[in-house]
Amino acid sequence: MGIGAGAGVAAVGGVAVTARASSGPDSSTQGTTGSGSSLAFDPDAHTTLTTSVTGTDGTTHSVTYRFWKAITYVARPVDETYQSLNVSVPVEIDGRAVDASDAPILFANSVGGYMPSSVAGATGIGGGGMGGGAPGGGAPSGTPSASAAPSAPGANGNTNATGGALATNQLLALAAGYVVVEPGARGRTLKDSAGEYYGVAPAAIVDLKAAVRYVRANRGRIPGNTDRIVSAGTSAGGALSSLLGASGDSALYEPYLKELGAADASDAVFAAGAWCPITDLEHADGAYEWNWGGNAVQSTGKTADRTVSQQLKAQFAEYQAGLRLRGLNGFGPLTARNYDAYLLRQYLEPSATAYLAGLTDSARAAYLAANSFLTWDGRKATFTWDGFLAHVGARKKTAPAFDAFDLSTGENNLFGAGTTAARHFTAYGARNDTTGLSGRRVASDIPALLDLMNPMYHLLTERNPRRCKHWWIRLGTKDTDTSLTVSANLAAAAAGLGDDVNHLYYWDQGHGANTDPGDFIAWIAEVTGYRKR
Ligand code: DHB
Repeated sequence: MGIGAGAGVAAVGGVAVTARASSGPDSSTQGTTGSGSSLAFDPDAHTTLTTSVTGTDGTTHSVTYRFWKAITYVARPVDETYQSLNVSVPVEIDGRAVDASDAPILFANSVGGYMPSSVAGATGIGGGGMGGGAPGGGAPSGTPSASAAPSAPGANGNTNATGGALATNQLLALAAGYVVVEPGARGRTLKDSAGEYYGVAPAAIVDLKAAVRYVRANRGRIPGNTDRIVSAGTSAGGALSSLLGASGDSALYEPYLKELGAADASDAVFAAGAWCPITDLEHADGAYEWNWGGNAVQSTGKTADRTVSQQLKAQFAEYQAGLRLRGLNGFGPLTARNYDAYLLRQYLEPSATAYLAGLTDSARAAYLAANSFLTWDGRKATFTWDGFLAHVGARKKTAPAFDAFDLSTGENNLFGAGTTAARHFTAYGARNDTTGLSGRRVASDIPALLDLMNPMYHLLTERNPRRCKHWWIRLGTKDTDTSLTVSANLAAAAAGLGDDVNHLYYWDQGHGANTDPGDFIAWIAEVTGYRKR
C-alpha cells in the first residue's frame, strides 16, 4: 500500500495538508540521516481535530489537537503501511490553550500477538492496531491456530491498555496535555510475494526503535520533550515496550536500523509502561509450568502432559536460580522454592487487599462468601498459593505454552525466518519436535535473535546503562497468557539495577487489563517532572 510521498518529502498520507516541498526551516538539521529531508517532520502537515475524552473521574473534556498521520519513519521502508507513525498534539483543552512544546511524549504501540500493527488508516488518535494490509488475525497460513493464539488488541475491538477501541492511555495522555506518538510496526505474519516472512523477529523492535529515533531526530520540530519519551504497550506490545526500555541504544540493533535508513539519533526512552508483557520467551515455558502446571488446560479440562510439565518446571528452577535476582522490599534471593511466597506477599495479597478495601461492605461480604479461599481480617486479605491457583482456574495454554512441539504457536511464527513460517526457539522444543526438524536443534541464528527480543538480556547481561530508569508494570492476577513470574522478574531485574519500579497486579483481572490508567498518566507527570502550561 503506497502511503507517504516520494523521495525528499516528509510522508503524510491521506490528509489535507499544506503542501511543502521541503519540511521545516532546516531540513538538514543534525540528527536526520544522510538521506536529507526525508526524515524531517513537517510541522505544518497536520489536520486539526476535536475529540471528547472522559477522564477517570467521569468528567468529560473537549480536546482539540493537531494530528499528523502516517509519517514514514525510516528512509528505506520495507512496508510503509507498518513503518509509519501518527502524532497527536493537544492545542486546546476545554477551551483553554495548551502549549505541549515541552510536554512528555507518550509513545504508545498497539502491537498485539506479535502481529503487524498499522496506524496508517487511523482517522485520529487511538485508531491504530492490527490491520492495514495485514492478513486477518490469528495464525499465519500454514501454521495451525495455536493454543497460544493471542487476542490481539486493535482490529477486534479489544480494550487493551494501548490500541483497541478505547485507546485509554493515549486519550488520557492527550487530555493531560501530553504529546502522543503512535507507531506502527511490522509483525510476524507479514509475507512478501516470494513467500518471505519480513515481520518476524526482530522486525517489530527494530521498527519501534527506528520510530523513537525519528522522534528524537526531529527534536525542536516535533512538539514535545524528546528526552521524555514514555513507551507503552500491552501484551506483545508490553513486551516490546519493556524491551524498548531495556535496550536503549544497544549496539545489537545497529545493522538492522542502518538497513532501514533509520534516523541517526538515540533510541533510548525515558520510561517504559508494560501491561502483561509476554516476554522472556525462551524461559516462559518453564515458568508457565511452575506457575500453572497444576491447573487444567482450558481447551481440554485436563492437566497438561505430566512429564512435559514436570520437565519444564525443573528448567524454571534452574533458570530462576541462575538469575540471582532479589525480591523487592528486602525479600532476598528469588527461587522456584520461594517464588509462591514472594508473589503472595509482594503482589497478590496486597492486590486482593486493595480490591476488597475498595468495595462497599455488602459487596465485600458477597465476595468473601463466594470466595472462601480468602480470609479478610477487616484490614488485610490472606490466602494460600494453592487456594489462589484454584481460584484462577483453568490455564489458557497447553504445554509447552510457547515453543510448541508442533510449531503451532504465535511465538514459533515470531521466530520464523525466510520462507519458514515457524521455528523452535528452545532446545527443549527442538528436541521434542514433531514436525520432522532434522538435527532436533534450534537454528544457529536463534540465540542472537532471542537476545534481540528479551529485555532480561539487556538488563542482566548487558546491564545496559542506556536503559530507561522508570518502569510501570501491570498484570492481572487471572492472566494465564504467561507466568506471573515474568513481569515480577522484569521488575526485580530493573529494581536490582537501582531503577524506579512501579509494579502492581490487578486483582481478578485477565489478559490486557488496565484498571488504573489515570494513575499511569499521573505517574508520567511525576517521573518526568512535567507541569502543564
Ligand atoms: C499475546 C498473547 C499471548 O498469549 C502471546 O503468547 C503473545 C502475545 C498478546 O495478546 O499480545
